[in-house]
Amino acid sequence: MLGNFSYQNATKLYFGEDSLRFLKDELAKYGGKVQLIYGGGSVKRNGVYDAVTGILRECGRDFVEDGGVMPNPTADKLRDGVRIARENHVGLLLAVGGGSCCDYAKAVSVSVHCDDDPWEKYFERYEEPDCEILPVGCVLTMAGTGSEMNAGSVITNHEKKRKAGHVFGPEVMPKFSILNPRFTMSLPKRQMVAGIYDIFNHICEQYFSGEDDCTSDYIAEGLMKSVIHSSLIAIGNPEDYEARSNIMWTATWALNTLIECGKSTDWMVHMLGHSVGAYTGATHGMTLAAVSLPYYRHIMPFGLKRFARFATEVWQVDPAGRTDEEIAAEGLKEMESWMKKLGVALSISELGATEDMIEGIADGTVMLDGGYKKLTRDEVVQILRESLLPSA
Ligand code: NZQ
Ligand code: ZN
Repeated sequence: MLGNFSYQNATKLYFGEDSLRFLKDELAKYGGKVQLIYGGGSVKRNGVYDAVTGILRECGRDFVEDGGVMPNPTADKLRDGVRIARENHVGLLLAVGGGSCCDYAKAVSVSVHCDDDPWEKYFERYEEPDCEILPVGCVLTMAGTGSEMNAGSVITNHEKKRKAGHVFGPEVMPKFSILNPRFTMSLPKRQMVAGIYDIFNHICEQYFSGEDDCTSDYIAEGLMKSVIHSSLIAIGNPEDYEARSNIMWTATWALNTLIECGKSTDWMVHMLGHSVGAYTGATHGMTLAAVSLPYYRHIMPFGLKRFARFATEVWQVDPAGRTDEEIAAEGLKEMESWMKKLGVALSISELGATEDMIEGIADGTVMLDGGYKKLTRDEVVQILRESLLPSA
């Protein structure tokens, strides 16, 4: 492990089919009114809303409803959530839903006691909170983002055509998260596979960086193998509890700050995907899938050794008698065939992106330099153009 780092994770997790019963214990730790945050209604259809509100009532807790959090939550909705929290003197933000609800709750948590506009302060100027932060709890219904155990929050501003993520400090991590894999069973297959690809890509974003072979890389490979294995079971039988529970647990570990230790981390697939999302409103995991292969083929020569290791360790490509270039290319082919089995998007045109959007999407792509190649703007445009068509 080269370099220096600190590690702290503030979130307490409750995992499994019985995990919701621990909500009672957690509620007792936080006073004031509960702001019950949920999305467009899935939790009302699958019974999770009734189960959670039943516990709130049983515990005699007042709560204010804050539903309608859309996938890829917006700056306008965030301002609305802050208003609700202020008017009701809320003491706990309880997100019941996927990453969007959880991210939104975190963004509200740092904004309630702050006079600045939250979009401008946190998602344009990337300032850190200098005010009291409300506690956040999460009852997760979708596996993918890892938001349940990290300090990330991603907000979309449609007027500005920008989707921006802010990774806050440990004080913004949910205080607790409840992970019942059964709650994810009602996800439509398209959302399930988008979440699976999101998990896989989070691991890739951290794995494809650095020259040394560190402990984080070995953990990352284990997580990748687990998600590939479970995903193939889950697409055949989405009701398979064992597969779905492994996917949920892998999602948490893929992005809860563990496997970034000692890594510079890449995150360019996410930067491209977020900008595609700002223009199309497409599902997060699908935007990542649609730009991944052109991006990885582009940077492969700059991180050849790691791409060859990815091929042999994750995809069991036989290295005998082959060059690193051939091994690495074979690994990406294996990854592509897995993506086809999942049924994720393989082009941004499938998601509604068109040639005339390319320059704007490139403008909205935040450029990072932790991966194997710092892209130029021309390279971003080239990768986006290649992403318009499914790879040959
Ligand atoms: O809104 P409802 O009706 O609840 O429906 C949701 C939504 O339409 C539905 N859904 C969720 N659980 C369900 C369900 N439908 C049926 N049964 C269930 N059990 O699924 C749809 C997508 O939900 P959403 O929360 O938007 O998905 P996800 O968890 O993928 O979150 C996406 C957001 O997280 C951000 C993304 O950019 C995006 O804005 N990310 C957050 C990260 C973080 N905090 O670290 C990292 C990620 O890379 C990502 O950027
Ligand atoms: Zn993601």
